[in-house]
This record gives sequence, C-alpha cells and structure tokens, in this order.
Amino acid sequence: MCNIKITGQILTISTSIAELARGTHHRNGPLPTSVPTCIFLRSYNVDLCYTPMILADVFKSSTYARDSDFTTNERDDPVIIQFAANNAKDLVEAAELAAPYVNGIDINCGCPQKWALQEHIGAFLMTEPETVRDMVHSVKAHVDIPCSVKIRIHPDLKETYEFVKRAEAAGADFITVHGRTRKQKSSEPVNLDAIRFVKEVASVPVVANGDVFSLTEAEDVFDKTGVNGVMAARGILQNPALFAGDKHTPWECIERYIKLALGYGTNTFIFHHHLMYMFEDVMSNAERKTFNCLSSVPAILDHLEKYWDLDVARVMA
Ligand SMILES: Cc1cc2nc3c(=O)[nH]c(=O)nc-3n(C[C@H](O)[C@H](O)[C@H](O)COP(=O)(O)O)c2cc1C
Repeated sequence: MCNIKITGQILTISTSIAELARGTHHRNGPLPTSVPTCIFLRSYNVDLCYTPMILADVFKSSTYARDSDFTTNERDDPVIIQFAANNAKDLVEAAELAAPYVNGIDINCGCPQKWALQEHIGAFLMTEPETVRDMVHSVKAHVDIPCSVKIRIHPDLKETYEFVKRAEAAGADFITVHGRTRKQKSSEPVNLDAIRFVKEVASVPVVANGDVFSLTEAEDVFDKTGVNGVMAARGILQNPALFAGDKHTPWECIERYIKLALGYGTNTFIFHHHLMYMFEDVMSNAERKTFNCLSSVPAILDHLEKYWDLDVARVMA
C-alpha cells in the first residue's frame, strides 16, 4: 500500500482549472477537519489541491476509512478528491459519498507501484481505456461535479491519443498528464513534447505534471507545452512557497505550517513528513537522519527549538 499519505501532495497553479472546479461546487455539511496544509498552501498562490489517492472500494464501504482518509472543511476550497478504482461501480459509490464535500473527482491512472498494478488500479488503467471511459461516464451520470483523469504517457503516443479521446468523449472535464511512462523513473527527464502533444490533441483543459521545482520551471512548462495548468508534488512539498516565487522554503512558511498544523491537531506522521520535506534542502545528511527519527510532536518541536531557534510559544501566540 501507499504508506506515505501527505495531504495536498498534488497541486496546480491553474486558475482556469480552479474556477472550473469551483463552478459546480456544492457543500452540504462538514466532515471532520484536518487539512491545514491545503489551507496554508493556498496562501502561497496554489489554486487547487488534491487529496492523496484514496481507494474507492474501501472508501465506499467503511465509515472508519472515510474519516481517516479524507477530512475537509469550509476553508479547504477548491479541493479535488482523487480515487483509485478498477470498476465504475465502486468509483461512483465513493464519488457519491464524497461529492457534497469536494469540488471534483479525479481518477488516478498514474500510480506505478507494484501493489497498484496488481490491484488493476493506477497506471494499470493506462492499458484499459474502455474501463476508464466507463468510469468517467458513470461518474458524470451520477455526480454533478467535474471529473478529471490523471494519466501518464504511453511509450507510443498514439495510445495516449486514443486514451485521451475516450476520456474526453465520456465527459472528462480536464486531464492531468505526468510526462513519464509507467516504467520511467523520476530520475529520467519529463517528456514535455509528449505533454504538448496531449495539450494539442485534447479538447478539454490539460494540466502538466512532472519536475517543477520553481516558479521559473512552472513558467517554462507553460511556455513549452501551452497547458492550462501546472501541478507539482515533490517541489511543493519541499518548498510550499514555490508558486509564490520563493526559491527556498521561507522560515515564516515553516512557522505558519507549524501553527496551523498544531491548531488543527494534524496527525504526527503527516506533521513530521511535511517538515521533513521542508527541511530537506537545508539539513545536512546527519541532521536529517536525526530529525527523521523523531517520533512525537514534542520531540519534533524540542528539536526545532534547540537547533533551529523555533520559538513555539511565539509561533502559537
Ligand atoms: C509523497 C508523494 C505522494 C504522492 N501521492 C500521489 C497520489 O496520491 N496520487 C497521484 O496521482 N500521484 C501521487 N504522487 C505523484 C505525483 O503526483 C507526481 O505525479 C510525481 O511526483 C511527479 O511530479 P513531481 O515531479 O512534481 O513530483 C505522489 C508523489 C509524492 C512525492
């Protein structure tokens, strides 16, 4: 299983996509809240946040899973819930439960992990365009909010063309494309030509994803591909102020995250991992090793007070 679930791991700077999501937004009531990351990221020019991938079959059948996998509140807007499913029925049932609380449903066709491929979800679906078409069609028939698909490219772009055409004919509102094939490692460069190809052939908006670690790189992707939005994962985890133009995580950003996360009672694992990402650039290997082994919120705060001059009392005041 995906054991790193970090809230707001996927983000875009596309205003048009955000408006699309916001346009058909309905909210009927609150779910338990624990989403400081997305709220905080929006203050750094992030237009749209996604949840981590959530298994539709588990989500639809377990209240416990729903409560632990997905939390939101009125300030968490716009937000897209991303599901992994291998059939339309599970997806629709999960989408119907989530729809009152989100601005869009996204179908994950990109997760390349072995367990996901075995479950016939994630990147496995890139070879199942008919299944994805049925999923999009069914979501659109049952749920009145946008439905998007996050894909990877195929080694043969003709297949990507066929895939995209089916998804949009079924009603997909936009497509996010990670410019690598299922088998490519993240150390290999993203294929911007392939993303541009998707943008050129698609009649719905396209969001580009992969290797954006600065605002300049995001602008470069816009220029080279003509896409409607840019999504970042690792870059924004390392530097939440990326889209605000900061080259490195500003200290005030770390303080604001701590204040918001502690205020919301964010779970220790998520709190720790976000801070591990934010400190990745600035801590030495030895420091990182020590920091990454801390196992409680007090230990994390003590460490930051001792070695990084964090003033918890001031931050929380
Ligand atoms: C910690 C982490 C968690 C991720 N979780 C998801 C996920 O739940 N769903 C998804 O579609 N992609 C997920 N991804 C993949 C990213 O969305 C993205 O496609 C990939 O990291 C390449 O973009 P980047 O270069 O901006 O990181 C995750 C990536 C990271 C680093």
